[in-house]
Amino acid sequence: MTTFTVNGKAIVTAVDPVTPLLWVIRDEIGMKGTKFGCGIGMCGACTVHLNGRAIRSCITPISVVADAAITTIEGLSTDGQHPLQKAWIATQAPQCGYCQSGQIMQAATLLNDFPEPTDANIDAVMSGNLCRCMAYVRIRKAIKLAAADMKGAPRA
Ligand code: FES
Ligand code: FES
Repeated sequence: MTTFTVNGKAIVTAVDPVTPLLWVIRDEIGMKGTKFGCGIGMCGACTVHLNGRAIRSCITPISVVADAAITTIEGLSTDGQHPLQKAWIATQAPQCGYCQSGQIMQAATLLNDFPEPTDANIDAVMSGNLCRCMAYVRIRKAIKLAAADMKGAPRA
């Protein structure tokens, strides 16, 4: 058995300890916001937070998250009003949308580390999150808008 929390809710799973966290999130818990892209840690579509840090859930065995706190896109805010979510809507950042929950979760880590991110900060932290629709310009704009919104506000 592996116990951990997802968005504050206690989860107990009996899956094989090598099972990727992504499958538990999507198939056992039934939350579909976190996406499967490459399955090898190379695209960022599956990004969630483990104790507040962005990880690739497709290559994270469930054994690694024992007793940890996982946050998915569904738990980033209770009402969809996180500054990143508002900025993503304001800038119409997504195209197909497939990569975007991973982009937002990665961006949340970025803004915790760099409250006023430069282009270089954004490039360094976001470069592993791929977007086949090439929405990178709008994503950068959304990150800067969210950073401005969060200025002076306490961060999660
Ligand atoms: S699906 Fe996890 S990094 Fe691509
Ligand atoms: S919006 Fe389509 S993959 Fe990023």
